[in-house]
Amino acid sequence: MKLTINPLVLPQSLTASVTIPGDKSISHRALMIGSISNGISEFTNLLESADIEATKKLVQALGVTVHKEGRAILVHGQGLARFSEPKYVLEMGNSGTTIRLGLGLVGPSKVFAVFSGDASLNNRPMDRVIKPLSALGLSYVARANNSKPPVVCLPPTRLTSASVTGTVPSAQVKSAFLLAAVQIPGSSSYYEPTPTRNHTELMLLAAGANLETTDGLIKLSGGKDLGPISMQIPGDPSSAAFWTVAALLRPNTQLTIRNVGVNPRRIGYLSVLRRMGGKITLRNHRIWGGEEVADLEVVSSKLHGCEISPAEIPDLIDEIPILAVAAAVAAGRTRITGAGELRVKESDRIKSIVTEFAKLGINVTELSDGLEIIGSSYIRGGNVTSHHDHRIAMALAILALVADSPVTVHGAEAIAISYPEFEATFTTLFGSAALQKILD
Ligand code: S3P
Repeated sequence: MKLTINPLVLPQSLTASVTIPGDKSISHRALMIGSISNGISEFTNLLESADIEATKKLVQALGVTVHKEGRAILVHGQGLARFSEPKYVLEMGNSGTTIRLGLGLVGPSKVFAVFSGDASLNNRPMDRVIKPLSALGLSYVARANNSKPPVVCLPPTRLTSASVTGTVPSAQVKSAFLLAAVQIPGSSSYYEPTPTRNHTELMLLAAGANLETTDGLIKLSGGKDLGPISMQIPGDPSSAAFWTVAALLRPNTQLTIRNVGVNPRRIGYLSVLRRMGGKITLRNHRIWGGEEVADLEVVSSKLHGCEISPAEIPDLIDEIPILAVAAAVAAGRTRITGAGELRVKESDRIKSIVTEFAKLGINVTELSDGLEIIGSSYIRGGNVTSHHDHRIAMALAILALVADSPVTVHGAEAIAISYPEFEATFTTLFGSAALQKILD
C-alpha cells in the first residue's frame, strides 16, 4: 500500500486536539501479566494493532481466554507456569516484544513451543534473551547457533532462581527475565547498568509481586501468586511523537495530545525537542495503574540542531526516526551517537533513514552507531519506502508535511504494526485532500 501526502493542500493554520491509542509496550505486558495472574484482569484502551494481535494469539494458543466486554479486554489468568502446550508453531509476525517477552513468559511452563516470525523478526538477535533465561534453568534451541528465530522452548527440567547483569540496555531482555523469574520460586535479581523502560516492573507491582528496584538492581521473590489487574492504558508516547513533531514543524499550529503516557523512561524525545527549541507543555499530570499520564500542548516552533548523546538513547530509542525528521528541518547540525541498537530494530533504522532521507535531498551521513543530519528549510518531494518498518513509514509521512511537492511512501501497510489509526488521525488533522491511499 502507498500513501501520497500532498503538502500543497495543507491548512495554513491548525488548532486541534487528538487522542492516541493505547501504549504498545504496556498492552503487550497487560496481556502477558494478565495471563499468569490468578483471576480476570480488565484493561481499557488496549492497543489494537498487528503486534498486539500477535501477543493476543500467543496467550490464546497457550490456553488463555481473552475477550472483549464493552470497551474492556478481559484476560482470564491461568496462574504461574500453568500454560498448556500449543499445538502449532507460534507465529510472532513482526513483533520483537512478543517473541522476547514471550520466551520468558512461556519458559517456566512444562511445554514444548516453537516461536517464529516474519522475515525481519527471524533475522533479529534472540541470544540476548536466551542467555539470561538459561541462568534460570530454562532451555531453548534456536537457528543460527542459538541466536535467531525460529526458537524452540523446551519443557524445563530444573528451574532455579538467578542473579543476572544485563549486557544490552534492553527493556525486552530485562522483561523476559522478570516474566520468567516471577514464576520461579526463590529470590532473583536483574541489574541494569543503564535504565530502560520499566513498564514490566510497574505492572508486576500492580499485580502484587514482591519486587523492588534500587539503583538499577531489580530484586524479586518468584513463585508467589499474582492478583488480577484493572487498568486504563495510557496513550502511546511513541505514537504521540509523530504528531508532536508535525505540530512543531507546521506553521501556525497549536495541538493538544490527550492522555499520553509520560513515564520518564519513554519521553526522552520531549527533552530533545525542547532542547531544539520546541514549545511543548505537559498539563493535567496524573497516574493510571502506576503509569504517569499527561496532556501535551505543542505549538509551532523554530527548531535548531542538537547533540543526542549515547546516555540519552534508551529513553528515546523508538523516536529516532521522527527526531531525524525534526533534525532535517532544524537549523544547523544534529548528531546522534551511541544508537547502534537501531541496526537490529524492525529494519536497520540507520540505513533506512539515510537511504530515504537522501532521496528527498536531505544532507544526512551514516555513522556506525548513529546519524549526522544538516537541516534545511527546503525538502523536495519524491518516492520513498518504509523498509517494512512502521516507524520509518510514519516518520516519512510526517516529513512529507514540510516538503515542497508530494511525497509517496511505499510499503505504508507497515503502519498497522503499531498505529492502524494513523491515517485517520492524519486526515482529521490535515484534511482528506492531503492524503491519498493507493492499494498495490
Ligand atoms: C520495547 C523495548 C525496546 C523498544 C521496543 C519495545 C518493549 O526494545 O525498541 O519497540 O516493549 O520492551 P529493546 O528493549 O530491545 O531496546
